[in-house]
Amino acid sequence: MTESVFLNGTYHQMFGDELQHPPYTPALHRKNLLDSYAFSFKMIQARGWESPLHCLEPNVLQLGTASYHTSKTFVDFVHALNPRAQISIVDIAPHPLTECADQGLDQENNVNLRQADARTLLAIYPKDTFDHIETDGLFQFLSADDKRIVLSQCFAVLKPGGVLTTRDRFTPRNADVSTQNEYETWQSSLERRLWATVYPSTKEDMWDLLGKTGFSRTMARRTMQNALKFLNHIVARKPTSKLRSTSTENR
Ligand SMILES: C[S@@+](CC[C@H](N)C(=O)[O-])C[C@H]1O[C@@H](n2cnc3c(N)ncnc32)[C@H](O)[C@@H]1O
Repeated sequence: MTESVFLNGTYHQMFGDELQHPPYTPALHRKNLLDSYAFSFKMIQARGWESPLHCLEPNVLQLGTASYHTSKTFVDFVHALNPRAQISIVDIAPHPLTECADQGLDQENNVNLRQADARTLLAIYPKDTFDHIETDGLFQFLSADDKRIVLSQCFAVLKPGGVLTTRDRFTPRNADVSTQNEYETWQSSLERRLWATVYPSTKEDMWDLLGKTGFSRTMARRTMQNALKFLNHIVARKPTSKLRSTSTENR
């Protein structure tokens, strides 16, 4: 992971700049995120899993924020479903957290901000803390080793039955040359736009890694069109028993 890009604020500067320039705007960013969160919750329901926001006072973690707009949208989504949910917003960089605080997000009920590294969640949160972890587009910025570490930290701090929701662009392992080229074009354009390193990953590798970590999981795409065809939505559940996930799950 190129920590300096996150820690020196360059990524957040570029991300913030992008939101100020049509056609991408905070309103469109909010709409895209709300659509994604709703899609993730439909996947949870379709899988027959209980909503992680169902209990009286769910404990929720947003891992990596990128901007105030991202976190405000997530807080609104969660609190519309359960106003008693406790939401922790964690980022490795101070910049987006300062932006959230400046906009008064931590003054909202049951919201707190914390600077921490996703690779060491267990240093601050006890095992089995969260009902739900959401992270949008974080894994694409993590090296293979860091992906493994962050997934195992998420697994540890989720309660049994807790659910991780996320989404990233992955190529199929057996991609043909033109698909691979298209993926690499998207990858370099994201790196240019946000100044962060993107670590390519196949959906099969992510599927296997989630399974090895212990998660039951489902992956789905919302569309086969344009650049979004690489975007895979993932919901991953920490089993309630010691039984490991099986290979017969949906991908
Ligand atoms: C969540 S991701 C992407 C967010 C946005 N939805 C997007 O698509 O670009 C980027 C955020 O993760 C944060 N981040 C990167 N590495 C991290 C780590 N190891 N621990 C916690 N946050 C991290 C970055 O500072 C940044 O705010």
